[in-house]
Amino acid sequence: MLGGKRILLIIGGGIAAFKALDLIRRLRERGASVVPVLTRAGTEFVTPLSASALAAEKVYSDLFDLTDEAEMGHIELSRDADLLVLAPCTADLMAKMAGGHADDLASTVLMATDKRVLIAPAMNVRMWQHPATQRNLATLTGDGVLVVGPTEGDMACGEYGPGRMAEPLEIVAAVEAALMDGPLKGRHIVVTSGPTHEPIDPVRYIANRSSGAQGTAIARALAALGAQVTFVTGPAAVPPPEGVTVVRVETAQQMLDAVTAALPADAGVFAAAVADWRMAEKRPQKIKKDGGALPVLEFAENPDILASVAQSGDGRPALVVGFAAETEDVVAHGTAKRARKGCDWIVANDVSPETGIMGGTENAVTLITDAGAEAWPRMGKDQVAARLAAKIAEALA
Ligand code: CTP
Repeated sequence: MLGGKRILLIIGGGIAAFKALDLIRRLRERGASVVPVLTRAGTEFVTPLSASALAAEKVYSDLFDLTDEAEMGHIELSRDADLLVLAPCTADLMAKMAGGHADDLASTVLMATDKRVLIAPAMNVRMWQHPATQRNLATLTGDGVLVVGPTEGDMACGEYGPGRMAEPLEIVAAVEAALMDGPLKGRHIVVTSGPTHEPIDPVRYIANRSSGAQGTAIARALAALGAQVTFVTGPAAVPPPEGVTVVRVETAQQMLDAVTAALPADAGVFAAAVADWRMAEKRPQKIKKDGGALPVLEFAENPDILASVAQSGDGRPALVVGFAAETEDVVAHGTAKRARKGCDWIVANDVSPETGIMGGTENAVTLITDAGAEAWPRMGKDQVAARLAAKIAEALA
């Protein structure tokens, strides 16, 4: 399955480094060639000789970098590969990558590469949960770095929780997905995101606090799994992801038109915070403070984009996913919304100001399907996106 593929495997310094040796074996079993790069700390856990013997390739490390530079420079080393894999990827390696450091062979190779990078983080629970690591993770996923794990369990340090490196076979699956363009290859998915702006007059508008961060992360995660994504976005605070078709709109009506034009699709994910109302009448001129009389604004209801796609009959995408932004009784309201709108899944979240979710970097969602409600722990919006994208891939398989 990986025949002819060349993988540059950077082995960081962590107790999980011993699993990297098994990973080399598993990758080679599938036909890949593996070039190991040991960080200085990595050499404390596995010897260059064992990595080299298993890979049947020369091992690169800082210890030998002067001679290696004569044979193959770090630029060729990084470009010669089809994929760069970091396993185990320590908190320090993540920080170096996020900061753009290039002070040793591994970090220099990572800076010089034009290939995709997959990291398998492994560290103590508290180090993983540390805000600095989570910040670095968000930066890295934002840069398009692929992540597998960490998983939850007993750790070598005696603690319990997330931080264990993914098992070699899980890493192999992530490598295959990355190299085969992922399980969503050939699928078209429409994603709506951001707020909409509804003009009051030529200079004023009605809006909401949506930053577009969650919808953007979902579009990025779907594209990372190989989907062709049409990203219909209102005026969002965050930039759209790379590698998707971006359609910029302002109003709910424009968003509906753009979504309709983008169909057919295999799935639709409606993460936009669409304004429920627009002005009943278009005001061609700025409303003036005429003699102190207060203006009376009359509203008309906007079209419901999610409901109209979910109930669209023949051309309906096989999977329609909506969001429910609630401030109380999240599961009850989300469940009712799923039935009312006719969508397959609802991703419900509590957007009360004290949760910090709207406009923030984290989300705590409950996925509501015909199988019931599944509460996910609070996590980064990128992680919510990755998990949702994986579920979508599973559902469309
Ligand atoms: N939605 C939509 N078009 C609208 C309103 C909402 O596509 N005009 C979609 C959103 O993108 C989201 C879902 O419907 O996926 C639910 O949005 P939400 O604001 O939670 O619900 P509303 O339908 O606006 O209902 P309410 O404000 O009464 O909670």
